[in-house]
Amino acid sequence: MLEAAGVRLDLTGTEPFLPAAQLDALAPRVAEAARGLATGTCAGNEFLGWLDLPSRIDEAALAACEAAAARARADAEACVVVGIGGSYLGARAVLDALPPVPGDGVPLLFAGTGLCAAGLDRVLATIADRDFRVCVISKSGTTVEPAVAFRVLRQELRRRYGDKGAAARITAVTDAQRGALRQLATTEGWETFVVPDDIGGRFSVLTPVGLVPLAIAGVDVRGLVAGARAMQEACAGEGLRDNPAHLYAAVRYQLYTQGFTTEVMSSFHSGLHNLQEWWKQLFGESEGKQGQGIFPASTVFTTDLHSLGQYLQDGRRCLQETFLCARHTVPGLVVPSDPGADADGLGYLAGRSFDEINWIAFEATRQAHIQGGVPCQALSVDAVTPRTVGALLYMFEKAVGIGGLLLGLNPFDQPGVEAYKLEMFKRLGRPA
Ligand code: PA5
Repeated sequence: MLEAAGVRLDLTGTEPFLPAAQLDALAPRVAEAARGLATGTCAGNEFLGWLDLPSRIDEAALAACEAAAARARADAEACVVVGIGGSYLGARAVLDALPPVPGDGVPLLFAGTGLCAAGLDRVLATIADRDFRVCVISKSGTTVEPAVAFRVLRQELRRRYGDKGAAARITAVTDAQRGALRQLATTEGWETFVVPDDIGGRFSVLTPVGLVPLAIAGVDVRGLVAGARAMQEACAGEGLRDNPAHLYAAVRYQLYTQGFTTEVMSSFHSGLHNLQEWWKQLFGESEGKQGQGIFPASTVFTTDLHSLGQYLQDGRRCLQETFLCARHTVPGLVVPSDPGADADGLGYLAGRSFDEINWIAFEATRQAHIQGGVPCQALSVDAVTPRTVGALLYMFEKAVGIGGLLLGLNPFDQPGVEAYKLEMFKRLGRPA
């Protein structure tokens, strides 16, 4: 068991599948990959701004996010975050993972995450009788899904607040200089934040892309950054066994070479669903290249044990599993005792907390899956807090950098994402 920055990594569930010597033999390659990142000599080195980002976020940057949040609180009952992929998944992941924020955060809604008319219509219906703001996030400023949703929302802002009022209710998070959104923001005088050039979308949660909407929602962004910073320190060296990001990356890579080509991240907490979605983008977009890469999938247990449990236990044996668990969520929620005759036969659970039962479900599931031929890593935290979430975010970012390099790939580009766009634009008749 390795513990760092409040995150525990338990490899007992991989040991039957992966001899220690085989894992240790990867140490020189992991160290080489870590050196490539640290010295900026690896593939994709123009996108390494995330690597030391937690330690570079200064008081001014945090204060700017908090000032934007204060402005939002002053005039809005809802904030619509417009963005897709790396431009919204991080904020959504953190927001949903954490317990509701007491106090005066502004509720977030998400739009531009696809082209579904019904989804956008639901957002419009929700803001119909609420004062709202828009936080539009697009590094390139040209991504069609958020751009068309933003047109609709801007029109609604203008209709309700006039041109000047609308402009005062828009925050744009985009590239420093290039792109249509930057130009619009300058012309219209919107509040703006910069997405650094050297940080790709899926690594941008700790830039204003994530921090501005999270601050608006009332999330403790300082805690989030502090947790990421603690994990940055824990993952700074070149070692294998003492470095959670390196160890996690090496284990999953070695299992992949043994035919475990799909990694299922399984949590036992519905609130972690979007953290798993963020993880899927991070790993899928970084590693799925040149006919290679571990396919990232996710389940939320015990719910999905009643749908995908059969496959996981007994289906094609190409699965490795990574559990993501929290020990304590709502300790006070316990199974009540039944003063009657215990007709439902649950007396043995009376007085026990849901957290305890859920944890036992995790241990039981892990044991069953190992017996079924699934190697299992387990990541756990005592509680899901801004700090532990920040630590997990950074650990995964570092791990995917190492993992992509172990595969011999550039982990920081995404050339394959263009293919559907080109075909769609052709069919939509976009002018050349
Ligand atoms: O990780 C990525 O680079 C992508 O998911 C992008 O974040 C996504 O395509 C949105 O791009 P943009 O922020 O330029 O609108």
